[in-house]
Amino acid sequence: MAAVPLGYLLVSFFTSILGEAQYVMQDATLVHYIDRRILSIENRLEKCNRDMADYVQEFREFSKRMMSRLEGLNILKAELKNDVDYLLSRVERAQRDIDYFESAKESSNTCVEVDEDLVEQQLMEEEELQKKVKLMLNASCNFMLAGIKSLKVVKKAGDTDGSWLKDPGKNYQKIYFLTGTKNKIVLEFANIRVFTESSKTQSTRRVTLPFPWQGTGHAVYNGFLFYHRHGSLNELIKFDIQHRNATDRMLLSGVGETPAYGLHPSTKIDLAVDELGLWAIYTEPDTNGKLVITKINPENMTEEHTWDTPCKSQNAEAAFMMCGALYVSYNTPEGGTSRIECIYDTLQTISPHEVPQLHFPKRQTSHSMVHYNPREKQLFAWDNGSQVIYKFLTKQKS
Ligand SMILES: *[C@@H]1O[C@H](CO)[C@@H](O)[C@H](O)[C@H]1NC(C)=O
Ligand SMILES: *[C@@H]1O[C@H](CO)[C@@H](O)[C@H](O)[C@H]1NC(C)=O
Ligand SMILES: *[C@@H]1O[C@H](CO)[C@@H](O)[C@H](O)[C@H]1NC(C)=O
Ligand SMILES: *[C@@H]1O[C@H](CO)[C@@H](O)[C@H](O)[C@H]1NC(C)=O
Repeated sequence: MAAVPLGYLLVSFFTSILGEAQYVMQDATLVHYIDRRILSIENRLEKCNRDMADYVQEFREFSKRMMSRLEGLNILKAELKNDVDYLLSRVERAQRDIDYFESAKESSNTCVEVDEDLVEQQLMEEEELQKKVKLMLNASCNFMLAGIKSLKVVKKAGDTDGSWLKDPGKNYQKIYFLTGTKNKIVLEFANIRVFTESSKTQSTRRVTLPFPWQGTGHAVYNGFLFYHRHGSLNELIKFDIQHRNATDRMLLSGVGETPAYGLHPSTKIDLAVDELGLWAIYTEPDTNGKLVITKINPENMTEEHTWDTPCKSQNAEAAFMMCGALYVSYNTPEGGTSRIECIYDTLQTISPHEVPQLHFPKRQTSHSMVHYNPREKQLFAWDNGSQVIYKFLTKQKS
């Protein structure tokens, strides 16, 4: 047998060991590498977890904030709804008030106030006043105009527009003559005969007023001349005719720049006297051109009560009071047949069904004033420069 050289064996042995060692070395590197990779992956996973946890935390906080915001919004919504409900109920109440008012106003012409208690109180006060006035009236008058019977032209003097008056108080015979729509001279005549017979040459008593008048709506009552002061919006003067001095004045509330009668723009306030006393007839800017009347206490120049009437100012030429009722005369701007087309009874004893159509007995007229004289039971009128008296028929108010 051939001996294998030892050296060869050793070499191959060593070589194989070396090879083995090389493999081992290679494996260790691999393991080390893998270890590092795993570590790195673990690290990253851990970071990922941490981030995730952070996100979750953040999200929780965010949703908590959102929840509380939503809750706040819900509260606001509820509050808003309450407010809207409250407003709606207020609107409903206001509507009810307005409805109540409309009906209260229709039935009794009280002033407009948005308080039911106040309205009721006013209704009661008005009833009281009516009772009082009715009682007073029972003794003095309870009639209404039924027709205009005849006319008498007393005189033709002065301007187209003017006013002539006789004091309805006891024992007054004098006639007062106020020509034009702005002046301060009043002519005084001893009685109607002197007035009729007097000519321009005859001397009459001239009374000079401290302030000029406005319009043709003056009144004479118990020795005093009452008139609207020229240049003032709503000042009424009480003038003591005998002593020739102005003793009192008042501002009539609510009177605007609007004329009382559409056909006579210069008269802003028309004064009237009847069985119950002194009245003012006018329009207010917010009554849609309807006439308003106020009862005035002539003693201390105070307003006693005011009524809104359904009578229109448009095409009205004049008006007067009789037995607590307003009679309004209408015409055309060119002049024509005057007729009473609106009657308003402050005592509400004239029923709307018995309101008659009343024509003045002259074909062509243009009245700048028509005043009732309760003592003479006649109408004094100024018709286109003529001083006229109308006699009339009456009937019992039902
Ligand atoms: C008016 O007077 C008559 C009798 O004169 C009387 O019967 C009636 O009750 C009176 N009316 C009023 C409202 O006072
Ligand atoms: C008006 O005149 C009378 C008599 O002269 C006098 O008593 C009265 O005080 C006068 N009134 C005024 C407001 O001047
Ligand atoms: C005016 O007089 C009447 C009675 O004549 C009275 O009831 C009223 O209170 C008086 N008004 C004023 C403001 O003095
Ligand atoms: C008023 O009188 C004047 C002249 O005095 C006349 O021309 C006019 O026609 C009269 N008007 C009416 C409505 O009668």
